[in-house]
Amino acid sequence: MRIDLVSIFPEFFDVLDLSLIGKAQRESLLSLHRHQLRDFSFDKHRSVDDTPTGGGAGMVMKPEPWALALEHVLAQRPAAEIATAEAPRPILIVPTPAGELFTQRTAEDLATAEHLVFAPARFEGIDHRLLDWAQEDFDLRPMSIGDYVLNGGEAAVVVMVEAITRLIPGVIGNPESLAEESHADGLLEYPVYTKPARWRGRDVPEILLSGDHARIRDWRAEQQDVRTRRIRPDLWAKHVVAQEQKLT
Ligand code: ADE
Repeated sequence: MRIDLVSIFPEFFDVLDLSLIGKAQRESLLSLHRHQLRDFSFDKHRSVDDTPTGGGAGMVMKPEPWALALEHVLAQRPAAEIATAEAPRPILIVPTPAGELFTQRTAEDLATAEHLVFAPARFEGIDHRLLDWAQEDFDLRPMSIGDYVLNGGEAAVVVMVEAITRLIPGVIGNPESLAEESHADGLLEYPVYTKPARWRGRDVPEILLSGDHARIRDWRAEQQDVRTRRIRPDLWAKHVVAQEQKLT
């Protein structure tokens, strides 16, 4: 997978060189490319923002530096990919609290893409004409990571890149751990324990020491249900509907 990150703070993405995503890059499972948006602004101050047309607070990102940066990203694609009309279009993800909610299903869907481009905005957002223009060459996906407001889209990009890239085959050593974690099956994960069996007066649930794998599986499934019902009744309601649909 190729990922391009365009921002006025490209160094924000240095964290993506650590741990499993850094390793995935070194093993060529993933190539990350950072671009400084200001390199595509040609006025004296390399400015990328201007006052909002129609008035109002804050500043709006100008469309031209974004268009030049995105054209640069498109031009860097391998020649073979540009030449074939059927080659999938790059997906342009624009983080915004006004976007579609990013979930584990979205991450699973995007993990199969060949080319993702992230365009995190600062200030009050990007001139809307840029988004219309970009749809000529990109599949546009405005995305929100939750119902709260960040100072800019970069932190949301880090979240999305981590959630997506860990699902690329080979990035996580043991793929079984993906199947058992929270949200994989629409429910929260069961509680986990390690040694010693008794720690500061607290015991590991006895069943986990029984060696009876069928009973342990049932206990864990029950814990998932109990936790999800209590902590995330919204997810539980969806799960119940999905189970009912399976039965009919
Ligand atoms: N930019 C600011 N807030 C955001 C959010 N909640 N999700 C994605 N991008 C954002």
